[in-house]
Amino acid sequence: MTVKRSDGRKAHDLRPMKAKVGIVPNADGSAMFSFGNTVAIAAVYGPRQLHPQHMQDPTTGILRCTYDLLSFSVSDRKKPGPSRRSQEISKVTEWALLPVVDLKSFPNTVIDVQIYILQADAGTRTAGINAAALALAHAGIPMKDLVCSVALGKLDKDIVVDLNKEEEDFEGGEGPTDFAIAKVANGDEFTLLQLDGKIQPEKVKEVIKIAHEVCKSIYDVQKKALKEAVEEQ
Ligand code: CDP
Repeated sequence: MTVKRSDGRKAHDLRPMKAKVGIVPNADGSAMFSFGNTVAIAAVYGPRQLHPQHMQDPTTGILRCTYDLLSFSVSDRKKPGPSRRSQEISKVTEWALLPVVDLKSFPNTVIDVQIYILQADAGTRTAGINAAALALAHAGIPMKDLVCSVALGKLDKDIVVDLNKEEEDFEGGEGPTDFAIAKVANGDEFTLLQLDGKIQPEKVKEVIKIAHEVCKSIYDVQKKALKEAVEEQ
């Protein structure tokens, strides 16, 4: 790999990761996850009775994710409140997590997952998904596995992992490519594949293979955070 990255990383290196669970005392479960300067927190509330009542389903609970960038998380202050972007990311986050959460055990209820980005330097949806998976586990929600998420992209022709904002805005070659991926930690099931930009179809296989590998390191960081929380009790 010859690609030169602005922060000196090799093509397939993630930014330094940090994770901690139990950071929001008033939530039923919570976690922080960061990739370098991108910092996400997630708080889980529930399962609790879903209102309005007509939305309740006696056969299952529902998962409701809300993602938002805090105003001060980006260089140009973000207007508070929901946007098209935040609604889309909330929805894909929900879809990324749904396959691992056992909602059948909680009929008529909702599990709320609130994700806030404290600092944004690209990859916020992926850091948010990693934090949310941890927060759900910390809340004691039955899950078949954790979910790990990362964004890959291209710098000119090289595939690179976990792009920062400068890399995500790279205009050389075929222009910026941002490929957000989430997968079940211990399986081959991908729960998010969201491509912004261009990539040759034959390179998609390579991206999936690299994502599979780097998600192992993300899972290690998530596991360590959960283990530390158990040991602290
Ligand atoms: O954050 P992610 O890569 O998942 O999503 P994006 O929509 O591709 O946004 C990329 C980056 O643009 C964010 O991580 C922020 O650093 C930046 N951004 C911003 O500065 N202001 C916004 N209102 C939205 C995004």
